Amino acid sequence: MTALLVDRIGVLATNDPALGDGSLGRRTGAALVAEDGRIAWVGDAGAAPAADERVDAAGRAVLPGFVDSHSHIVFAGDRGAEFTARMSGRPYRAGGIRTTVAAVRAAGDDELRATARRLAAEMLAQGTTTVEIKSGYGLTAADEARSLRIAAEITEETTYLGAHVVPPEYAERPGDYVDLVTGPMLAACAPHARWIDVFCERGAFDADQARAVLAAGAAAGLAPRVHGNQLGPGPGVRLAVEAGAASVDHCTHLTAADVDALAGAAGRTVATLLPGVDFATRQPYPDGRALLDAGADVALATDCNPGSCYSSSMALCVALAVREMRLTPDEAVHAATAGGARALRRTDIGHLGTGARADFVLLAAPDPLHLAYRPGVPLVAGVWRAGRRVA
Ligand code: NIG
Ligand code: FE
Repeated sequence: MTALLVDRIGVLATNDPALGDGSLGRRTGAALVAEDGRIAWVGDAGAAPAADERVDAAGRAVLPGFVDSHSHIVFAGDRGAEFTARMSGRPYRAGGIRTTVAAVRAAGDDELRATARRLAAEMLAQGTTTVEIKSGYGLTAADEARSLRIAAEITEETTYLGAHVVPPEYAERPGDYVDLVTGPMLAACAPHARWIDVFCERGAFDADQARAVLAAGAAAGLAPRVHGNQLGPGPGVRLAVEAGAASVDHCTHLTAADVDALAGAAGRTVATLLPGVDFATRQPYPDGRALLDAGADVALATDCNPGSCYSSSMALCVALAVREMRLTPDEAVHAATAGGARALRRTDIGHLGTGARADFVLLAAPDPLHLAYRPGVPLVAGVWRAGRRVA
């Protein structure tokens, strides 16, 4: 493969403390070289080696591609009316998940595939070079397995979420549904998934059920992650920490004990904040500043789905995290890149150190802080994945 030189970079965010300053590993006057899909060299532009191709950044910023570690983009149907009702005051209670489940069960593979691919393309065009995709809108063994097969055509970060909610046909016998999720449904899904997730929340699954789901997943080789503390305080965060989950996502309602638990789990369990959900469901925003100050690892992700947040924009997440969760712009950009990589336990993405996958974004702005400073403006001027221009 040919070597690509990107030079005359305004601010380069490397996320590598050996290469630059602060949490973003910022450098000015830098260049990078990508070769064979990897970052081969980072340094001062004046010392850059020769390359076959050149991109002139012309003073614009370059940062690692966004890592969106939480999405539900395999679905069918539309819940715009639910959103409109919510904005007029109706609370979000996750009951709408069953609306999407009915639509998915009625949809053909081609329809599910087309929606997922359209949204993955939308993400890529906005700078997201890695996305995690969950099942969770099929809730039968066959519908969960086909959702994961479609997800696996798009990403290697696939998550089995049979334990999203109890579907209507099991409403009177939730224990039987947990048996299905941990038995035949898991067997059908495990070959297509890397992770297992459970929605541990009042109205979904309690702590004992969630523990059983994660343990069965682990026995089938799936690593745990958790949806927790979205709609109210609850056991999700502590359960995730106890299970050694890679991430607990939402974290909208945290007690001081939850923050302590996440701080104690730094290096193991990431607190993934989903500000687009808090925005689109009118929940209070969690205090990201308190999590960082306590020492917890924080990631930002979209949760892109038709109910609680139909946005694929990591830039929106960055802007909201700065405005509403008290992260600095650098912390928010770090959480949307390196944080997401950590939440997926990946060391090859989320940074631009030598050897990393050459996933990067050129912004139509001099500094990554403009992602928060200029909310709603399409600032992505180019996207490269594994060294190839993809947008
Ligand atoms: O992450 N929390 C549970 N599941 C999704 C909601 C999906 C939906 O409303 O359809 C979430 O917010
Ligand atoms: Fe989710």
